[in-house]
Amino acid sequence: MNQETLIEGHKAIAPPESVPVLDIDPYSDDNLTNRTYFSALHEAGPFAFIPKYSVLASGRYDVVKEVFSDHERFVSSRGVGLSDFAVEEPWRPQSIILEVDPPYHSKTRKVILRGLSPKVVRALKDDFKLDAERLIGEILTKGDFEAVVDIAEAFPSKVFPEAVGIKDPDPRMLIDFGAIQFNAIGPDNALRAKGFAGMKPVMEWILSRCSRDALTPDGIGSVFYEAADNGEITHDEATMLVRAVLAAGIDTTVTGIGNALWCLATHPEEYEKLKADPEKMALPAFEETLRFTSPVQAFYRTAAIDTEVAGVKIVEGTKILCCLGAANMDPDHWDQPNRYDISRQTAGHLALGVGVHVCVGQNIARAEGQAVLRAIAERVERIELTGKETWRPNNAIHALDKLPLRFIAKE
Ligand code: HEM
Repeated sequence: MNQETLIEGHKAIAPPESVPVLDIDPYSDDNLTNRTYFSALHEAGPFAFIPKYSVLASGRYDVVKEVFSDHERFVSSRGVGLSDFAVEEPWRPQSIILEVDPPYHSKTRKVILRGLSPKVVRALKDDFKLDAERLIGEILTKGDFEAVVDIAEAFPSKVFPEAVGIKDPDPRMLIDFGAIQFNAIGPDNALRAKGFAGMKPVMEWILSRCSRDALTPDGIGSVFYEAADNGEITHDEATMLVRAVLAAGIDTTVTGIGNALWCLATHPEEYEKLKADPEKMALPAFEETLRFTSPVQAFYRTAAIDTEVAGVKIVEGTKILCCLGAANMDPDHWDQPNRYDISRQTAGHLALGVGVHVCVGQNIARAEGQAVLRAIAERVERIELTGKETWRPNNAIHALDKLPLRFIAKE
């Protein structure tokens, strides 16, 4: 095969010796929603070659961890989706945190971490608790409700923009922005095209909210502008960091919270454990949801050099689909991976990534998930599914579209 042939914006490769060819499409609606290809990835061994996209894919825990942990051999600066920025222009200015490598990454990461430090998150926790209690109190007056809209979207799209300092948040714009970004990671399919078709007003709205004068002076965004005043980054970089947290900080937690409600509604015995000790079990329940459902299904890395992983030779320019969802279900790593068990040891799950790019918003995500699950467990006796859940296909996110629920209040 001509090595310079481009497929989905990256160099086509020949399948490495000894790697099985899997003639599947990880981006079919069935695979995105039912994740049926995970077992094929596990059986394939360390890697499978997917001819439709000319990529290597891995669903093995050890391999995904090794690739994510080695930012020198496997870079993010060439894009964390199918497109290789070394051969194709990024569809929008490259993220200065997610899509860059050290040493530049270390500079922006230091600033973003300051904005999301444990101290900042501790200060937000009381507000999250009150907001969650208020929301669940309102839901209890409603009877049947649609949990994706009424809880999973409602909570993060209120508390997170407030924490960032967005003055007049528009939940729809914020949620759509995340969906567009995550669909862009995939191939040039209908999901990606639909996102791009509706992108203009969303991008304009987002960019108009990221400037200093559009932000409150006490939010996370203001920390980035203070770093610019100190000369650590430029003011344009501060704007880009606000954009980055808005891109990564809403759809992900919406999905995590929605998936947690689905897990608890469909595993009443696990909900009993949570209800028995809401204070102690809310966080483990959220964490096991992250492992079990992996809200962010997969990200790519690009091989910066010819190298080898698990005995497989990988040529420079190879795009590697690191399937976090499959790695979190790898039977070689997890005992009974298909069992949702909020008492299990979830340490080391890969739902928040690993290595230098490990999720910078993880403390805030956990604080949000914990607040909502605790508020539910304190007031709700039983969670009932009142109809069939449906999943919403997205090229990177494993999210629910509809989750009809009823809460039966405690006496
Ligand atoms: C349950 C919710 C969340 C999940 C599952 C999640 C997942 C992830 C994953 C897997 C990565 C690693 C990406 C990579 O290595 O290429 C990541 C990075 C990142 N996340 Fe999250 N995330 C969540 C919540 C958040 C929140 C609330 C924020 C906002 C503050 C956020 C901001 C970011 C940023 C900016 C990065 C890039 C970090 C870097 O490149 O150094 N995430 N996230």
